[in-house]
Amino acid sequence: MKLKMIKKINIGIAGFGTVGQGFFNQINKFHKDVNVLQIAVKNLTKKRKINFKKIKLTSKANELAENPEIHVVVECIGGSKDPAYALVKNALNNKKHVITANKALLAIHGNELIKVAEANNVTINYEAAIAGGVPIVKAVRENLRHNNIVKIYGILNGTCNYILTKMEQEGKNFASALKDAQKLGYAELDPAFDIKGVDAAHKITLLSSLAFNVPIKFSSTYIEGIDKIELDDFSFAKEFGYKIKLLGIAEKKGSFYEQRVHPCLVKEDSEIAKVENELNAVVVIDEMVGKSVFIGPGAGAKPTGAAITADLIDLMRNNISLPLGGSIMETVKLKNLNILDSSFAYYLKIIVKDEVGVMRKITNILARNKISIDQQKQVHSSKKGYASIVIITHNIKEKIAIKAIKEINNMKRINNKVKFIRIEG
Ligand code: NDP
Ligand code: HSE
Repeated sequence: MKLKMIKKINIGIAGFGTVGQGFFNQINKFHKDVNVLQIAVKNLTKKRKINFKKIKLTSKANELAENPEIHVVVECIGGSKDPAYALVKNALNNKKHVITANKALLAIHGNELIKVAEANNVTINYEAAIAGGVPIVKAVRENLRHNNIVKIYGILNGTCNYILTKMEQEGKNFASALKDAQKLGYAELDPAFDIKGVDAAHKITLLSSLAFNVPIKFSSTYIEGIDKIELDDFSFAKEFGYKIKLLGIAEKKGSFYEQRVHPCLVKEDSEIAKVENELNAVVVIDEMVGKSVFIGPGAGAKPTGAAITADLIDLMRNNISLPLGGSIMETVKLKNLNILDSSFAYYLKIIVKDEVGVMRKITNILARNKISIDQQKQVHSSKKGYASIVIITHNIKEKIAIKAIKEINNMKRINNKVKFIRIEG
C-alpha cells in the first residue's frame, strides 16, 4: 500500500524557548522535508544560538495564522490567553492544522477550539502537552479508549517529580530543588503552575476527556500541590513502606467520574514509586487490555520536541485524527464526583505538646468518627517539648476525615495544623 505523504510542508513556529527550539533542532537535523517559513518570538533582539537564514522572525504571533503559505502552525508560547489563544483560533479558522504543547490553553479553551477545528476540517495535535516525550495521547486516542477505560492516572509533572526525588534522595530543600528544575528547563514560566498542581491538573483534565469521551472540564478537577510536603514526610512515609508522588487521577465510577491532583503516598514497590526525577508515568486501566504503564521523560527540549515532530509527521502522512478521538459533538455527560465523597486511607502528621493524655485525645477523636488506625508512630519533634505523631488510617470517606482533622486542629496542645496525605492504591 502506498501512503499519501505530503512531500514538502511549510510550517510556522510560535515560541522559540525550550520547546520551540527542541522541536526546531530535531527537524533541522532529521527532517529536511519540513520548511520552517516563520518563527514568532516575544523579543526580536534576544541573542539566539541559531542562524535563521531564510526564516522570517516576527513578534506578532498572529502573522503565522494569516500567512497563506503556512500549512501548519506549531504553538509553543504557552498560557491560556492571547497571543496563544488568538493564534490557535485564527489558524484553525484559516484551515491550518495546529500542533501545540500548551496544555493550559487546551484545558481552558479546548472544547471551543476543538469545535472550531472540527468545523474547519482541520485538527489539533497535542502529544507534547501531556507527559512530554511519552506517546500517551496517541495511545489513548487511537487505541486504548476503545476498551472502556475505567481509570487513568500518573505522574504528570516533571518539575514536581524532580523536586520530590531530590528532597527524598538528597535531602535537598524545596526551594533549591525547584531552582535546579527551572535551570533544566522543566518548569513553567510561573513555577506556581507546577508546584501548586495546576499543570498536572491541566493534563489529567485532558486525559480524562480522551479516556472517558467527556467534554474538557478543568473546573471539575480537584487540585492540591506539593508545596506543603516537608523533608520528614519522606522518612515517615518510608518507615511505613511508601514514597510520596504528585499524581493526577481520573476515574469512572458508574455514571460518575472524578478528576483530581494531589500528593499521594504510593507503595514503594509499585511501578509508579520507582519513577524518578523529571520522568513521567501514566497508568491506564481498561476492561480489555487491563493495565498498561507508560514511562518516559515528561519535560525538557528533546522529549517535547520529539512529541511535536511525531505529531507533524502524522499530518504529513495524512494520518489525521479528531483531537479527542471522537467528535466533540458526541461526547457524553458524566456527573462529577466531589472529592469529599471519595474514600481514602490517610497519612496524618500531628505535632503536639509531649504530654500525658494527648495521644489518647487524638485516638478518641478518630474513634468517635469511626476512623480506624492501621499503623502509628511517635517521635520527638525538632521543636523542644513537642512530639510528632504519624498515623496511617484505614479507608474512610474524605468528608469524615476532614471533620476529624478539624476536631484535632481545635485541640489545645496542637502545635500547628494536622498535615495529611492521601494514600493511593
Ligand atoms: P519558554 O518560556 O522557554 O519559551 C516561550 C517562548 O514563547 C519564547 O521563545 C518567547 O519569546 C515566546 N513568547 C512569549 N510571549 C510571546 C509573545 N507575546 N509573542 C510571541 N512569542 C512569545 O517556554 P517553554 O518552551 O518551556 O514552554 C512553551 C509551551 O510548552 C508551554 O505551553 C509549556 O507549558 C509547554 N511545555 C513545556 C515543556 C518543557 O519541558 N518546558 C514540556 C511540555 C510542554 P522569547 O524567546 O523572545 O522570550
Ligand atoms: N512544567 C511541565 C513539567 C513541563 O514540569 O512537567 C512539561 O509539561
